[in-house]
Amino acid sequence: MKKYRIGIVGATGAVGQEIIHLLEKREFPVAEARLLASSRSAGREIQACGNLEVVKETNSDSFKNLDIAIFSAGSQNTVTFADAARKSDCVVIDNSSAFRMDKDVPLVIPEINGDALESHKGIIANPNCSTAVALMGLYPLHKRFGLKRFFASTYQAVSGAGAEGVTELENQVKNQISNEPSPPPPDSDPVFQHPIAFNLIPHIDDFREDGYTKEELKMRNETRKILGIPSIQVSCTCVRVPVLRAHSISINAEFDSPVNVPDARTTLENFEGVELWDLPNALRYPMPINYSEKELCGVGRLRLDHGFSNGLAFWVVGDQLWKGAALNAVQIAEELISRKCLKNL
Ligand SMILES: NC(=O)c1ccc[n+]([C@@H]2O[C@H](COP(=O)([O-])OP(=O)(O)OC[C@H]3O[C@@H](n4cnc5c(N)ncnc54)[C@H](OP(=O)(O)O)[C@@H]3O)[C@@H](O)[C@H]2O)c1
Repeated sequence: MKKYRIGIVGATGAVGQEIIHLLEKREFPVAEARLLASSRSAGREIQACGNLEVVKETNSDSFKNLDIAIFSAGSQNTVTFADAARKSDCVVIDNSSAFRMDKDVPLVIPEINGDALESHKGIIANPNCSTAVALMGLYPLHKRFGLKRFFASTYQAVSGAGAEGVTELENQVKNQISNEPSPPPPDSDPVFQHPIAFNLIPHIDDFREDGYTKEELKMRNETRKILGIPSIQVSCTCVRVPVLRAHSISINAEFDSPVNVPDARTTLENFEGVELWDLPNALRYPMPINYSEKELCGVGRLRLDHGFSNGLAFWVVGDQLWKGAALNAVQIAEELISRKCLKNL
């Protein structure tokens, strides 16, 4: 079997570490795993795909002789290095928002629009984490009933803000429980603008003039691009919650065709990548603790929405470090190989 040389930019971060884990778990045919990060982590040793690898500082020569580079190091680093990767004939799969809305860059969830990979020009974007999880529930229902508009409220885990977000929540919880005085302010700015332990913060990313945040607009704009429906109406509120891992989203959706719950259940049960976990009387519904480190997204609390004529309300939960980032990126890499659309095949 042919093996591939993979670069992981941001290998030391929350997403990068999961990429390494998933390449191993899914037995991706890896010939070389090249671990790249900033100068801060250069020289660190990390076990990856059967070898002890030394992390290297990313520079424009980092991509020579690589087939694929998965970037998870923030938009600025994608903008800085993606072109160097492309020039080395290395296909970029990017977890940042840098190129998601670029018309020449496919924005892909393999179970939904894997076909879009066929026209890539060297960069493929991974969707925003909440959008990816929401669409895993919405897309099959859209195929069955025709999606018209939806409202979403997200409950986003702290690991969505990176490894430092997790540390911040853990430290705040420890300090509050032990009643210790607050530690001195850290050298760097806190990740969250308010205490996150035992709190909710209805604000993720910068506010825009219309009162929405950039994160909320990603749900609308990326949904339009992935589903190919530019007119779809979406209103979203994104909330950071004191959960370590896995995002949850409450969705109220209106459809073109009449809906019914039995058909909606069958539709979801038959969709790859989703699990219907919906027996309210047995207290069975998806929760972040059950969907952390799980490849499937869970849908539950499925019911007719009393606010619309053709409406469904449901709750979808998925590991945003996996389906919202690392897993989706590795699936894209697998799909590029199986579709024979890696440039240097
Ligand atoms: N966390 C999520 O759930 C999630 C979901 C979807 C998308 N994303 C996206 O994925 C990216 C990474 O997120 P994360 O949560 O993994 O963040 P993170 O835990 O803070 O990790 C950031 C990574 O970027 C690296 N990095 C920083 N500056 C760099 C530079 N100049 N050159 C090369 N590497 C550099 C860091 O390396 P050092 O160790 O050297 O600092 C680290 O490996 C972001 O674009 C984020 O928006 C995250």
